[in-house]
Amino acid sequence: MNQLNQQWRLVARPDGELAAEHFTIVSAPMPQPGAGEVLVRTIYLLIPPAMRMWMNERDSYMPAQTLGEVMSGITLGVVERSNHPGFVPGMYVNGMGGCQEWFVATGEQLMPISAQAGVPLAAYRSVLDVQGLTAYCGLTEICRPVAGQTLVVTAAAGSVGSLVCQIGKKLGLKVVGIAGGPQKCAWLERECGIDAVIDYKAGEVGQRLDALCPQGIDLVFENVGGEIFDLILDRINDHARIALCGLISSYNGGVTQKTSSLMQLVNKTATMEGFLVRDYFGRYAEVIQQLQTWVLDGSLKCQIEILDGLDSIVDAMARVFHGKNQGIQLVRLSPEAGLTLLHNET
Ligand SMILES: NC(=O)c1ccc[n+]([C@@H]2O[C@H](COP(=O)([O-])OP(=O)(O)OC[C@H]3O[C@@H](n4cnc5c(N)ncnc54)[C@H](OP(=O)(O)O)[C@@H]3O)[C@@H](O)[C@H]2O)c1
Repeated sequence: MNQLNQQWRLVARPDGELAAEHFTIVSAPMPQPGAGEVLVRTIYLLIPPAMRMWMNERDSYMPAQTLGEVMSGITLGVVERSNHPGFVPGMYVNGMGGCQEWFVATGEQLMPISAQAGVPLAAYRSVLDVQGLTAYCGLTEICRPVAGQTLVVTAAAGSVGSLVCQIGKKLGLKVVGIAGGPQKCAWLERECGIDAVIDYKAGEVGQRLDALCPQGIDLVFENVGGEIFDLILDRINDHARIALCGLISSYNGGVTQKTSSLMQLVNKTATMEGFLVRDYFGRYAEVIQQLQTWVLDGSLKCQIEILDGLDSIVDAMARVFHGKNQGIQLVRLSPEAGLTLLHNET
């Protein structure tokens, strides 16, 4: 086998946005699976906003990325060669394969995917995976909604936010989403059927919240942080419940939260709880089954955006942080169909 493995390596830590000087793409030898191991060809690489945090010197919920090594990455791939009885060539698998075209993993590091007809494969690394589980469990277990309550969701047209909005409607909530730009807002209202949307880029977020939430805000699913979160906290009701999912506005640095708005948690005896989806992996099968049923019956919409090639990672990240993506942002590293390696290759 004389193929090479293209790898994306972080070589300098960004101070602000990721740019060309922070990474290099190298050609490494193809990895070889040992006893009990599996060789996977990466098809999709997820570009979550948190990937930017992994590049910092300080540990986040992930250990800080080591400079010079292959960047960590959440992947969907296909088994091309297997020395493990539970995996056969052609099987699709999720894993943490990193930002590279090929990787070797143990069976325990891979999760087989049973792709259903009528569902795009990429959905199994987006709505029917971590983003879906985050949305469902964050909303139901942290916000603990009661039908009729008012829920505000930030980054509402994003992959997690748009699912939270739609699940909120299914649970009988009044859902107000905050998103950037008329196109995203129209999609949320017309396609996702949420009650009202605020285009924060058009300004007057405070006045719009007052008009759309005249009884105040009972539940918040917070993805963004910063000034908009301050405006939301100023309008919460007594005993409001806030699921703190992420603070994307702070990941490139520079954005802080007003202490006075945090005082609202005291004033309103509200509960704000940070959470990580990994705490809910025990519910994975049950929740993904429910979400898949909704995807198949057309009642849960999601959008998937795909760029091609390792060298598009920097553009993909810029799209996420500038709101150019609508829904989940993926990078495709190889085609979905077919196996690349011949069976007798060594
Ligand atoms: N806790 C967990 O376990 C967990 C799991 C997954 C994700 N998350 C978090 O969930 C949040 C959403 O993730 P996602 O995967 O849904 O992201 P996504 O689909 O990529 O959405 C990102 C969106 O956020 C908005 N945005 C970006 N920068 C912003 C800024 N400075 N101010 C306001 N809006 C901004 C943009 O939409 P607009 O055009 O509307 O601005 C962008 O399209 C992130 O905070 C992420 O870290 C947490």
